[in-house]
Amino acid sequence: MKTIIEPFRIKSVEPIRMTTRAEREAKLRDAHYNLFALHSDDVLIDLLTDSGTGAMSAEQWAAVMRGDESYAGSPSYYRFRDSVQDLMPFEHIIPTHQGRAAEAILMSIYGGAGKHIPNNTHFDTTRGNIEASGAEAYDLVIAEGKDPSSLHPFKGNMDLERLEAFLNEYGDSVPIVMLTITNNAGGGQPVSLGNIQAVAELAHRFGKPFIIDGCRFSENAYFIKQREEGQQDRSIKNIVRDCFRAADGMTMSAKKDAFGNIGGWIAFNDDSVAEQARVRLIQTEGFPTYGGLAGRDLEALAQGLHEIVDEDYLKYRIRTNEYIIEKLDALGIPVVKPAGGHAVFVDAKRWLPHIDPLSYPAHTVACRLYEIGGIRSCEIGTVMFGRETDGSEKPAAMELVRLAFPRRTYTQSHADYVVEAFALLDKEKDSLKGFRITKEPKMMRHFTCQFAPLDD
Ligand code: F0G
Repeated sequence: MKTIIEPFRIKSVEPIRMTTRAEREAKLRDAHYNLFALHSDDVLIDLLTDSGTGAMSAEQWAAVMRGDESYAGSPSYYRFRDSVQDLMPFEHIIPTHQGRAAEAILMSIYGGAGKHIPNNTHFDTTRGNIEASGAEAYDLVIAEGKDPSSLHPFKGNMDLERLEAFLNEYGDSVPIVMLTITNNAGGGQPVSLGNIQAVAELAHRFGKPFIIDGCRFSENAYFIKQREEGQQDRSIKNIVRDCFRAADGMTMSAKKDAFGNIGGWIAFNDDSVAEQARVRLIQTEGFPTYGGLAGRDLEALAQGLHEIVDEDYLKYRIRTNEYIIEKLDALGIPVVKPAGGHAVFVDAKRWLPHIDPLSYPAHTVACRLYEIGGIRSCEIGTVMFGRETDGSEKPAAMELVRLAFPRRTYTQSHADYVVEAFALLDKEKDSLKGFRITKEPKMMRHFTCQFAPLDD
């Protein structure tokens, strides 16, 4: 059979409240043209993020009922720990309430003024936690990873030459080497197993612990199976194990590839590092057998980890993005290729060259997409990255619109609807003029700033 179906039936549904274009235009105006300020029941298809927004399975909901809420030593913790260790063979598995809490703990151990921490591309919260500790964050992804049209199969790979030069230059001030799989900030692009192992070898040669940010580990493993020589006949589970066997520890947002609505963890092999992490955990998250989560959350994650490595699921998951990208490409709409794991990225700089980056072309696309189809996406461009620490404004390297797909939540007809909205937008795009910012906070402005359309 050629048709790839959603490999699940629907047992429980959430209605989508239909709205008219006129209603959506009014809602967006009331939200000062910031999509984060919309009420989510005014959104028809919500592609703002794939984080914590997925559908849990019947087995996960059943596991929720088994959750044991004991403060210390809950059997739910041990089931969670065993599920993690089945995929990621670390000695110490420490639950946290989400990924950034794991990062904060990691930086309480390894961060601090004068430290330099490399990654392929740090996610915003990782960078935020590094910088808040006084350390500096560096992105050393390969050059192809920054070129939206490059067809390199592993655009998330670390640039090994730059990493080696970095380790030579910064020496003792590098506390750890990090790697994010998949590379979210770079378009959800994968890292090859060969690159993971080479980064580990290099880090260890310089005596540095190697830590993986594993949020989308299963999507990454699927790409390895599809694209890396010699991996085709291996199970996803075995590929995942090899990825993490190379590392000394990991941080995780279980809101992604663990099918959780909340959760995360931090893991280490080293006993004394794990001890430091647990002390910090008790101060900020909770006792080490629950770490900011309810027992029922731990149960849902334990079950989610069994389901996430299912190849039929991964095939459907990755195919959704490829399908949309093929259709947008046929319409002549520029997209980041090849398709990433969790999202489709539209290149607004190439699509709307008449809008100056400081008038926010990607934000302009995201707003009009909402007005046309009630679809909520996310700008990853100058609104997000343009404000410099000295107060000046500079165009971001790329102007992307991210359509991030919640796991197991939408179907192919939703994907077709998204494509149709883009076809309509393509006809209107030359009349779009862009936006100016009327109010913004001091930091992380994209979440709360307010806009006015330039044609007002
Ligand atoms: N690392 C990566 C690669 C991420 O994508 C995220 C979250 C985190 C860490 C932080 O995890 O949200 O559980 O605290 N990414 C979400 C997104 C928010 O929309 O891409 P968290």
